[in-house]
Amino acid sequence: MPCKLVILISGSGSNLQAFIDAAEQGELPADIAAVISNRPAAGGLERAAQAGIATAVVDHTGFANRDDFDAALRDTIDSFAPDLVVLAGFMRILGADFVRHFRGRMLNIHPSLLPKYPGLHTHQRAIDAGDTEAGATVHFVTEELDGGPPILQAQVPVKAGDTAELLAARVLEQEHRIYPLAARWFAEGRLTLNGNQAELDDNALPPTGFPFHCVTAD
Ligand code: GRF
Repeated sequence: MPCKLVILISGSGSNLQAFIDAAEQGELPADIAAVISNRPAAGGLERAAQAGIATAVVDHTGFANRDDFDAALRDTIDSFAPDLVVLAGFMRILGADFVRHFRGRMLNIHPSLLPKYPGLHTHQRAIDAGDTEAGATVHFVTEELDGGPPILQAQVPVKAGDTAELLAARVLEQEHRIYPLAARWFAEGRLTLNGNQAELDDNALPPTGFPFHCVTAD
């Protein structure tokens, strides 16, 4: 049985598209069982439909509090019985119970060189700090926001005259490479969470994740 994925989105879903493409090209031995959005208008829902993938919407605005939303989202995910839950530009903070329920089988990608810049506006913060490198990190999700054990990290240069938009585009290109790769490792049974440590082939991954050496077009 191939590894079953459920992918959570809030927006355009370019990372989702990278998963769809990787699966179609045989680079990701997994079955995307469903795409779930908290926003009915998320562009990624259309990408999923185009690829013939089941979709569901759990609209956070329809819930009185976070616990109720989390419970409905958890039940919707569980109805597809995934092996792995992939947060791909999912822009809601998830409660501790939810996160514990999926511990060791939920990944996130964050557009910074974690542990730098958890939270929002990462690209502008990197530019404002005068950083010469930025990037993205795939990590296991734990209760700490953007603080779970890193798996893979890609670096890109920050260039003179960069705007947040330019830098975001450069980082996003690498997100599309490292995220399906991390999921591939999981699908192959090579990637595990042992306590608070991500392991690849039973070896502890470095504190900032496996360094992905990328070739940038520009
Ligand atoms: C990505 O930069 C992701 O890291 C961030 O939100 C963005 C989502 O982009 N948290 P997309 O919806 O996958 O295009």
